Amino acid sequence: MTDSELTIALSRGSTLFVRQYGRGIPVLCVHGFPLDHSMWRQQWEGLGDQFLFLAPDLAGFGRSILADDTQATDASLESDADDLAELLDRMGHARVVFCGLSMGGYVGWQFWRRHPARVAGFVLCDTRAAADTPEVARGRRVMAERILKEGMEILVEPMLPRLFSNATLTAPDARIFGLIQRMRSCSPLAAARVLMAMANRPDMEALLPTIDLPTLLLCGEEDVITPPAEMQQMAARMPQAKLQRIPSAGHLAPVENAALVNRAIREFLDRLPQP
Ligand code: MLT
Repeated sequence: MTDSELTIALSRGSTLFVRQYGRGIPVLCVHGFPLDHSMWRQQWEGLGDQFLFLAPDLAGFGRSILADDTQATDASLESDADDLAELLDRMGHARVVFCGLSMGGYVGWQFWRRHPARVAGFVLCDTRAAADTPEVARGRRVMAERILKEGMEILVEPMLPRLFSNATLTAPDARIFGLIQRMRSCSPLAAARVLMAMANRPDMEALLPTIDLPTLLLCGEEDVITPPAEMQQMAARMPQAKLQRIPSAGHLAPVENAALVNRAIREFLDRLPQP
């Protein structure tokens, strides 16, 4: 049983933190925006008896460090995907189940495009394959510039009602307050960089039929950012995908309804051949 934290300096200048917990099939869990590895705590605690969770912080988030020469402009999620591949090399994992939430899912598509042999299957939570509309991309670029000048609060406060279900918003517990606190303390440069990278990301919809891998899609019933209807369309286009809707959850289904999410992940991973 592994239970440790590593910090690994990568060749392109960033230093990634990764929490490892459990034993068995390695599951790489990539957080959403602007969160960090700790959003997966209930998954590694609930499922670590059977699966090995590797939960990194992407460059600049949580306890990871951006390369010194990082600029918010020209950012791409491809570089995050390559960071993760190098991290796995350094940890000795050839193949993993790629699990990502929202932005973590966007990174997952790029990981699959650039390192397809390393993906044994996908668990994709509350995410989408489509690129931003020009209007959304423009909004992200404006927000990136504002965050660099004004700090994280201008992003976090308006985002909260869109992240969570009614039940979570009505009775937030210490976990939710902790998560919000980590969003507020996110590095403005890291946030601005990935806002630019998300605005620049390519559309993956045409590639969905070519992703012939066991895939579990999970979506909070009340997710208004990446709604279930959109994820259902993704599932219909992916040869081996199945969507499970998660009640009492908004955009952060693994945090808001961990019991049901964990049951779905366990059933899915139980049926996978060892990578
Ligand atoms: C996330 O949760 O990672 C973000 O909502 C992604 C996005 O802004 O598209």
